[in-house]
Amino acid sequence: FFPTESVQEIVRKNPETVPERYVRNKEDEGGDDLLPHLFLDIPVIDLFLLASGDEEELKKLDMACRDWGFFQIINHDIPIEVLQEMKLTAREFFQLPLEDKMKYFKAPNDVQGYSPSPIVHEQQKLDWADILILQVYPKHSRRENYWPIILPDSTKVIEAYSKEASRVAQQLLGGFSKLLGLQMEELLKMHCEVLQVMRMNYYPICPMPEKVIGVSPHADTGTLTLLLQEDDNIDGLQIRHLGGWVPIKPLANALFINIGDVIEVLSNGRYKSVEHRAMANERKERISIATFICPSEDVQIEPLASMVSEDLKQKYIKFRYGDYLNYYWTRRFDGKTPTNLEL
Ligand code: SIN
Ligand code: FE2
Repeated sequence: FFPTESVQEIVRKNPETVPERYVRNKEDEGGDDLLPHLFLDIPVIDLFLLASGDEEELKKLDMACRDWGFFQIINHDIPIEVLQEMKLTAREFFQLPLEDKMKYFKAPNDVQGYSPSPIVHEQQKLDWADILILQVYPKHSRRENYWPIILPDSTKVIEAYSKEASRVAQQLLGGFSKLLGLQMEELLKMHCEVLQVMRMNYYPICPMPEKVIGVSPHADTGTLTLLLQEDDNIDGLQIRHLGGWVPIKPLANALFINIGDVIEVLSNGRYKSVEHRAMANERKERISIATFICPSEDVQIEPLASMVSEDLKQKYIKFRYGDYLNYYWTRRFDGKTPTNLEL
């Protein structure tokens, strides 16, 4: 990783221009074929029904993960104050003066901490975003020096939201267990100690938003990602679907769920991790909070026996999740990762 300047600072010092290293060639970034009308087709899952064992809802989950790798959840039962305080904490963090944020700056070999988006090649184009990454669970793995205690309530707020996110993830994993032919809790058990990582993203206003990308196209490596965005009126997230990009317009207080590579591999490709990217805009900065649910690093991931048969050959090799993560972090984001995992 090579250190670069905070994008927020670049904009503050010079709001009119975009430095060359951020200017993209759209063709290299998956094109610009927008399919906004498809947004209305994005599946909505009622978490209450799913958790009560409703068969129709389970079928919807199956379809959502097969056709989209992405869906929205309603009736998730996370108290509105918990969502609001989490959004506010993220905003307050990025609004701190640079010297305060720098107290939490990521050390060169760490993944956690505050930094501009990571770089892996010296020549690489840069993402138009600053981020703060915190591992929240298991509790003993926390790196407290990166927690922004300068904001007095932040620890409490991050914990309250993360606890709710963990409960939501467990309910979803219960649904996946059934779909994958496992016992209810089995998928969860397979994770040993679930890793839960929070990533707060800050996309500054950009004077030429069509020239930059907030987060380059990628799929998430973990099991599931829960995504909360601060302002429902500022869009930016786009998901890959039918060869184009579908811009996501969040509904009030809904959460978005991304299927990660782990589910793709466990399901032997029945479910696909979703490729996505985030765009900047010139009206208002955008803040989003992603919560990644992942297996422990020592867990071995391979297609489940229930998903492999004479007709459905095993499509992915077995791998240790930690090795996959390490590989992921050394790779430039330019689409989905798992090609090297396919047999
Ligand atoms: C991400 O992929 O983590 C970014 C998603 C977003 O900001 O909406
Ligand atoms: Fe992502």
